[in-house]
Amino acid sequence: MNIILMGLPGAGKGTQAERIVKEFGIPHISTGDMFRAAVKNETPLGLEAKSYMDKGLLVPDEIVIGIVRERLAMDDCAKGFLLDGFPRTVPQAEALTATLKELGREIDHVININVRRELLIERLTGRWICPICGASYHTLFNPPKEAGVCDKDGGKLFQRDDDKPEVVAQRLDVNIAQTQPLIDYYVEQGLLRNINGEQDIQVVFAEITSVLRG
Ligand code: AP5
Ligand code: MG
Repeated sequence: MNIILMGLPGAGKGTQAERIVKEFGIPHISTGDMFRAAVKNETPLGLEAKSYMDKGLLVPDEIVIGIVRERLAMDDCAKGFLLDGFPRTVPQAEALTATLKELGREIDHVININVRRELLIERLTGRWICPICGASYHTLFNPPKEAGVCDKDGGKLFQRDDDKPEVVAQRLDVNIAQTQPLIDYYVEQGLLRNINGEQDIQVVFAEITSVLRG
């Protein structure tokens, strides 16, 4: 199954992706996670991506398209994949369609998680992440059993640099501006399904799995 998970920053893409890939046994391809790994390893890609990410801007299309194209050609994607946070612009969507066509594949489902802006700000500023497994927690909405510690592996939770309040507002504005044309692109292809992301994490997951199994 080839899936795209769409949604504004904080909509719950990572939270749901973690559950979906476990359920369906497919790889999780998060462009944000790939850039953060490159930043951490101080690669040339990481240094370039960081200059955009720290300001809440999108990384240029040609860079993102290049890394996704390479990733999709890897063997583990043959049985399917979950794209989280890609595509984010119409040129990225068009490049994805073309790449999959070359590979003799196509997208099966596009899930769009909807959450109001006020709630997104609250979610992002209260988010804590595990450096080992990448799990997302929230101080109020999804707290770990022990404050500051990952339930799964004991990792010491941290906050992302781009979750600072001044960067969050910019990220939301930049992403909102790109979203409608992307939604239109997938509506025209008859692939887009909207999910109310303001519900409990388990309820959102149940609705997504019911669409995917539909
Ligand atoms: P990326 O890492 O993808 O960040 P993002 O899109 O800003 O989204 P987030 O990861 O912040 O949110 P999420 O939807 O995963 O929410 P989460 O599940 O963590 O990208 C980072 C940057 O990389 C971009 O800004 C850009 O610079 C660059 N980039 C990446 N892809 C790119 C592309 N394609 N093109 C160009 N540039 C690109 O949840 C958030 C919080 O809410 C958590 O605390 C969680 O516990 C909580 N929560 C989740 N669901 C619920 C719920 N149902 N109820 C209550 N709380 C919930
Ligand atoms: Mg995420």
